[in-house]
Amino acid sequence: MTSTIDTGRVICALHDLAERPCRAFTLGAGPWPLSGFVVRRGDTIHAYRNRCPHAGHPLNLKPHDFLTPDRSLIVCFSHGALFEIATGYCVDGPCAGQSLEALPVEVIGGHVFLAEGVDPADYE
Ligand code: FES
Repeated sequence: MTSTIDTGRVICALHDLAERPCRAFTLGAGPWPLSGFVVRRGDTIHAYRNRCPHAGHPLNLKPHDFLTPDRSLIVCFSHGALFEIATGYCVDGPCAGQSLEALPVEVIGGHVFLAEGVDPADYE
C-alpha cells in the first residue's frame, strides 16, 4: 500500500525547529495565503496565525523571530504584546486578555503539517 503526502499542508521538518524553536510559514495560494508560525516546546508543537489580536499586524519583524530573548513567551514586535506559548493567551500588552488564533497541526513522519481537513483558504 502506498500513501500520499499532501505537500500543500507541509509546514516544516521537525529538525527545522531544533536550533531555533519557532518558524514562520505560509500555506495556500492566491493573494491572501495563510500566514502562521509554529513553536516547538519539547515534543509539543504549537501553531498560531501570524496576526496579532491588537492591531492585526504580523507579530515578527525579522524572519522566524517570535519569542522573547529567554524564549519563555511569544512577543509581538509591533507594540510588545506577550503571549503564552502553550495557549496563545496575551498576558501583557495592549491586547491583554485576548488570544492568538491557534492553528491545528499534526506531526507525521518527522514533518509538521496543517491538520488534515483544514483548508488554508478558511483563514482568508
Ligand atoms: S499589533 Fe501586536 S501589540 Fe500591537
